[in-house]
Amino acid sequence: VRRLFKKELKEFSRKYPEIVACLPRLEAALSAEKYVHSIGTMITAEDLMAHFTSDETLIRKAVIAGILHDCAKCMNQREASVEYGINSANTSGGSEEASPAVLHSIIGTFVAQQQYCIVDIEILNAIRYHTTGRANMTLLDKVIYLADSFEPARGYEDSVLNLARTKRDIDIVLLEQLELNIKLVIQKGMPLNLDTVRARNFLLVGE
Ligand SMILES: [Fe+2]
Ligand SMILES: [Fe+2]
Repeated sequence: VRRLFKKELKEFSRKYPEIVACLPRLEAALSAEKYVHSIGTMITAEDLMAHFTSDETLIRKAVIAGILHDCAKCMNQREASVEYGINSANTSGGSEEASPAVLHSIIGTFVAQQQYCIVDIEILNAIRYHTTGRANMTLLDKVIYLADSFEPARGYEDSVLNLARTKRDIDIVLLEQLELNIKLVIQKGMPLNLDTVRARNFLLVGE
């Protein structure tokens, strides 16, 4: 981490000292790989959000949601679900039980509140829907969804290109990513997440 994002982290310590102060706690809770990915997502989310708005509050929300979006990724998902009382009755997507990949975003909203004192509903929703999307996504939801996909530490070679395209038309790139995701799920023979379907339909027809 220190090497990959050294310059950016120095700048973030100056701009967001209280957010950077939480990093040791997050580092202890994540694998090295997921920690680097979270730093990459935070930096990318800030960059994207600053492109779309000059609202400092919203940019700060993107930084916080970016760094915390995977805060529950390395927990025992089954134990954490029991601890926080998560079951199919209180999850709207409909296929969380079949898709453990989605669980960490739901658990993440509890961890963000309890361990990182996040009360802002927009930040919590961006964490909640970073894996699936949802109908009528906010700019913050979109930025976190795409920063998660395109942050440079993932090592995809088209990351720079995709980020540039996102800045030009975020909805087109988001639609592409949702459709890519839907195709992969179908290829794997897994049930589709309804929030992802709703996110795509909303971008297509506005409902
Ligand atoms: Fe995630
Ligand atoms: Fe992630």
